[in-house]
Amino acid sequence: MSTLGIQDLSVEGKRVFVRVDFNVPVDERNEITDDTRIRAALPTIEYLMGQGAKVILASHFGRPKGKDERYRMDVVARRLSDLLHRQVIKADDCVGDEPKRLIEKMKPGEALLLENVRFHPEEEKNDPGFARQLAELADVYVNDAFGAAHRAHASTAGMAGLLPSAAGFLMQKEVSALGKVLSNPDKPFMAIIGGAKVSDKIQLLENFLSRVNTLAIGGGMANTFFKAQGFEVGKSLVEENHLDFARRLIDAASRQGVRLLLPGEVVVADRMAADASTRVVSPREVPEGWMILDIGPKAVDQFAQAVRESRTVFWNGPMGVFEIPAFAAGTEGMARAVASAPGTTVVGGGDSVAAIEKFGLAGHITHISTGGGASLEFLEGKELPGVAALAAK
Ligand code: 3PG
Repeated sequence: MSTLGIQDLSVEGKRVFVRVDFNVPVDERNEITDDTRIRAALPTIEYLMGQGAKVILASHFGRPKGKDERYRMDVVARRLSDLLHRQVIKADDCVGDEPKRLIEKMKPGEALLLENVRFHPEEEKNDPGFARQLAELADVYVNDAFGAAHRAHASTAGMAGLLPSAAGFLMQKEVSALGKVLSNPDKPFMAIIGGAKVSDKIQLLENFLSRVNTLAIGGGMANTFFKAQGFEVGKSLVEENHLDFARRLIDAASRQGVRLLLPGEVVVADRMAADASTRVVSPREVPEGWMILDIGPKAVDQFAQAVRESRTVFWNGPMGVFEIPAFAAGTEGMARAVASAPGTTVVGGGDSVAAIEKFGLAGHITHISTGGGASLEFLEGKELPGVAALAAK
């Protein structure tokens, strides 16, 4: 099975349907707070415009239940026009006569944004009739929506079977960077996995264990590993039903010669609040009634040392409750360590990406994935429907 890239297709004068992931965060005034995903799609869009295609862009935006004015994509069209320095035409629907008329009138090299594909419930059902309606708008299908590739929906998977199909530049870059992490990382390979819960990362940890040289575990999920070793962790978040998994992972790591790093120092607080009382202690000495909310400075040094010794570093998940400044130092320290790593660095997953952006370190990372759920599922070893559909022909 092989997948074509857009560079393999002739698109001049053709109507090219491009599925992008413009599901960007907005604030209460409906203003975009992070346009990374729009910027990440620009190479594909600009390439197709430059080739003289009629570029028809489609995305979902939020999780509307049918048509909902709050999820209209005009705000995205405006930002895209600013970034392209060209007016992007905005359709009021994604199927039917109105977009057809607009596309008919388009000139080669112009771009049009369809309305939110999730205004039609058939999208998420991967309804074949709806996929055909979308496909009627175009001659060629390009999928550049890596962030939505874990969804088997009409515009992410169903359409690929109906038109000549290819992967956009962002899709190619993501699959290649994350694929290399899984199948051919330069060694030593270190994975740093954080986040609140072990339960969200079980498959990721299992899939990585046989591939890494070093596995560092931080964030709230480390508490379950502490408890599994018999430490008393006070009121810290612990997933009692995953203590066995934590024990099994510790044993498997030692059997397989994987260096498993758990934070040797933690920040504890009497409650989770910006003005809480805090202390830096060993995870074996958490005061009764207190909770672990970040990794301590010695743990940052411990993890950073391993980062410096690795040729590939993958990071997913924050080291503490970094939204609260008192518990942000561990995540910031980790972000800085990863950003100054000597080898290849890949960051995936919403919160660790947000941390990298927050500390202004994005330019120092080899690859930052635009996929949250999609990058996690890819790295868990699952086949992504959006990727598989492109390869299926
Ligand atoms: C994301 O933000 O992870 C993707 O755009 C997918 O969105 P969804 O979880 O609503 O399908």
